[in-house]
This record gives sequence, structure tokens and C-alpha cells, in this order.
Amino acid sequence: MRGRPQPGATGSEIYAVAGCISCHGTERLGGSSGPPLTDLSASWAAPNLAAYFENPKEWIAKDARLQTLDKNYSSSMPSFEYLNLQERQRLAQWLLTQK
Ligand code: HEC
Repeated sequence: MRGRPQPGATGSEIYAVAGCISCHGTERLGGSSGPPLTDLSASWAAPNLAAYFENPKEWIAKDARLQTLDKNYSSSMPSFEYLNLQERQRLAQWLLTQK
């Protein structure tokens, strides 16, 4: 969990290596530790999502929908500031093209 991706890793590889699976599931359907990550394009533009991964708390503080989501889970979305901008962008792009 929270591993460092290889250089050039794809969005789905980063999703697995960084440990997103442990809370959001292999198929991104969520579970007791995290919400489903489906249909994210309805709520997010790619640059914002890439920024969210760096500092989720900042985004939760200013977004009522995320605050409601946060209350439904005992855990919170960790920050992934150790992923570089390109990795966060690749992850965001990939997630936004998933259903
Ligand atoms: C420890 C559990 C945990 C891990 C690990 C985790 N998340 Fe989350 N995530 C959450 C929780 C809980 C929320 C809901 C907001 C909150 O409570 O902080 C969330 C929210 C989100 C959201 C916002 C969902 C929406 O509806 O807008 C996205 C996107 C997301 N996570 C992606 C990821 C990605 C990508 C990774 C891996 C880099 C990851 N998460 C790792 C628990 C986790």
C-alpha cells in the first residue's frame, strides 16, 4: 500500500500500486472504507482531481458534497502528495474515463 509507481506507470497501475484498491476496491465500487469511484466525470474536471489527490482535506473543506461523503466513512481520503504531478494527472485522466 502507498507504493511508489514505476516511471511511466499507467493510471490503472498507479491506482493499484498506491493502494487505492484497499479502500475503493479493484473495480472501484467502494466498500466500508471508501466510496465508489464511478461516474466521477459528473463531479470532477481532470486538473481539479489531480490537485485533490495532493491535498484532499483542502477540497473537502470547500465542497459540500465531499463533506457529506466524508461523514459516511470512518476513514478519510489520504493525501498522495508523494505522487508527482504527472502521476496524479495520469491517475485522474484514467479515473475520469472509467464508468
Ligand atoms: C484509507 C482509505 C482510502 C484510500 C487508501 C484512498 N481513498 Fe479515496 N477516499 C476515501 C474516502 C473515505 C473518501 C471520501 C471523502 C473522505 O471521507 O475523505 C475518498 C474519496 C475519494 C475521491 C472523491 C470521490 C468523489 O465522489 O468525488 C476520489 C476521486 C478518490 N477518493 C480516489 C482515490 C484514489 C485514486 C486513491 C489512491 C491514490 C484513493 N482514493 C485512496 C478513502 C480512501
